[in-house]
Amino acid sequence: MKQRDRLALALDTDDSVHALRLARECVEYFAYVKIGLELFFAEGPSIIYPLKDLGYRIFLDLKLHDIPNTVYRSAKVVAGYGVDLLTVHSDGGIEMLQACVRGLSEGAATLEIPVTPKALAITYLTSQKEVSREQLNERLEMIAASGVAGFVSSAHEVEFIKRVQPNLFGVVPGIRFEGDTAHDQARVATPGFAIAAGADLLVIGRSITAARNLDDSLATLRRELG
Ligand code: C5P
Repeated sequence: MKQRDRLALALDTDDSVHALRLARECVEYFAYVKIGLELFFAEGPSIIYPLKDLGYRIFLDLKLHDIPNTVYRSAKVVAGYGVDLLTVHSDGGIEMLQACVRGLSEGAATLEIPVTPKALAITYLTSQKEVSREQLNERLEMIAASGVAGFVSSAHEVEFIKRVQPNLFGVVPGIRFEGDTAHDQARVATPGFAIAAGADLLVIGRSITAARNLDDSLATLRRELG
């Protein structure tokens, strides 16, 4: 897989002008952009289309968490946006995860969208402190049984998860370059560490989007993953 295909740029801003400028500057390095709650609430689904026009695959990080029927119906709507990835909280239980998968596939089929979006289950938020192996194991069994395509976890759990569930697509946020500040992330890792641990896709936000010098940070990223 090419390096670019393994990288998602987290556009955590409420300003579409800023988001699109960053997206344009980084498109050579990142195959995906991640639209989170902040940008989605500020701009609505219309922000998706100019990002698709730039050539990005869309990772919609809405972290759905509600009763199964509401998640099913919402996922059906999301499928119509033509996004590639959608997050859902594993906290919501297996029926809710299954409802998300069903909503995405039925939504894509009904609207004749060629690509069915993949659901990614959040294991635990990376801003939370360490969870026990037992808690993680229970969560993983449920995630794997639900039919979602992948999971989101910190770089420090991904090796274990991929060993237990090798078929799940592993997405890792909380990425920092050596010497960067961790901000509110409790379990950060460098891009090289996360890839070596088995991550399929890295989510990179402030190390790039808040960089003092964007070109230098992009060069560091390329060097690290070389
Ligand atoms: O700026 P930073 O690189 O810390 O951004 C990390 C991104 O990954 C944020 O958009 C955050 O919402 C997201 N994320 C996370 N932990 C998760 C799931 C998503 O940090 N478990």
